[in-house]
Amino acid sequence: MKNPAKLRFDLNGKFKIMVVGDIHEKYRIDEKSEDFLRLINRALDELQPDLAILMGDIVSNGAYDSQGNRYDLTVEELRVPIFRVVEPFKKRNVPLALVFGNHDGESESGLAKEVILSLFQEYDNFLVESTPGITGVGNMNLPILSSNTDDYAYNLWLFDSGNREEGSRSYAYLQDDQIRWYEETAQNLKEKNGGAPLPALVFQHIPVMEEYELLKTSSPLNPSAVQGHGIFSDNWYVLDKSKATGHMGEGPCTPDHNSGQFESWKKQGDVLAAFFGHDHMNDFCGSVDGIMLCQSKCSGFHIYGDGLRQGVRMIVLDEDNPADIQTRMHRYREYFGTKCNSIKGYMLINDRAHGVIENTLKYVGPVVGLAALGYLGYKISKKKKNKQK
Ligand SMILES: [Fe+2]
Ligand SMILES: [Fe+2]
Repeated sequence: MKNPAKLRFDLNGKFKIMVVGDIHEKYRIDEKSEDFLRLINRALDELQPDLAILMGDIVSNGAYDSQGNRYDLTVEELRVPIFRVVEPFKKRNVPLALVFGNHDGESESGLAKEVILSLFQEYDNFLVESTPGITGVGNMNLPILSSNTDDYAYNLWLFDSGNREEGSRSYAYLQDDQIRWYEETAQNLKEKNGGAPLPALVFQHIPVMEEYELLKTSSPLNPSAVQGHGIFSDNWYVLDKSKATGHMGEGPCTPDHNSGQFESWKKQGDVLAAFFGHDHMNDFCGSVDGIMLCQSKCSGFHIYGDGLRQGVRMIVLDEDNPADIQTRMHRYREYFGTKCNSIKGYMLINDRAHGVIENTLKYVGPVVGLAALGYLGYKISKKKKNKQK
């Protein structure tokens, strides 16, 4: 392993992680790429993380020729956007890790995740090395050493949550062999830790289904409500404020099948919190059965979002109190106000407003339509009566 134990709590017993949500960077640099870089450079200067983790859907696009036809990137071409993303971390020598997202794995760049990983590995302080023999790319665990000994004080799990369920459009989930590897490794770490589970965080792109336990059903007329996704799409939801804080701008896009991953965390007892990307407009956190489930909304500007709420999520860990996990979003708007080159004017309207309009049209539309039909019928019958005269 390239760098198994480089991370360490500082002398104050703190460890700071910057979570970078979906970027969806493109081959050619544009003003959206520049806004993302502005956000990351500023956040790195302000927040001084000990580690940064990219949450997947990193470079998700091919390139277009002068006729507008899409073509797959070559390895040399793919290196361009990857190095663009890596540069702010490299400039400050910040250790960097990642988990892969569904778009990284759906060959949108035309290249496999193994190739993407090998390009990131050209950065000396990139920490991810894929564990061989199990499903996915980039599954691994990163231990954090104690501030004053070489003992493991904390552990970070990085999982590849895949793309789509085989033969379906539903999102993927961890496979049995990945869960087995997690359980065996967690058990080894526990033994090494004197029989107590080693406190841990999970990072993976696609959230687990248990996120829906942080929500409650609501009327579609509620402007705060969002429609559920997949098997949850018959209902509309709001955050259950007794369980979660933050913002939900879209129904969590979880898989339609429960892999048992969450139950496995409960059984091992090491996972205190899990962080997810994938849902670009969600940044809520809440506790289910004592495990914090926490969304990191998108950090990039190439994809759908909600105005200037893009940002990065910081996590501050405390060596003396592992369960005290401090986390919050730091947004573009917080650093730069509304000065943004790629999101302007009407696009600054929060997407919630669109939701309100959609909800209103959904119910007002049929009423107006029925009224119009009634009026038309009345006019026709009146005309007929006049003719009879
Ligand atoms: Fe995404
Ligand atoms: Fe995604």
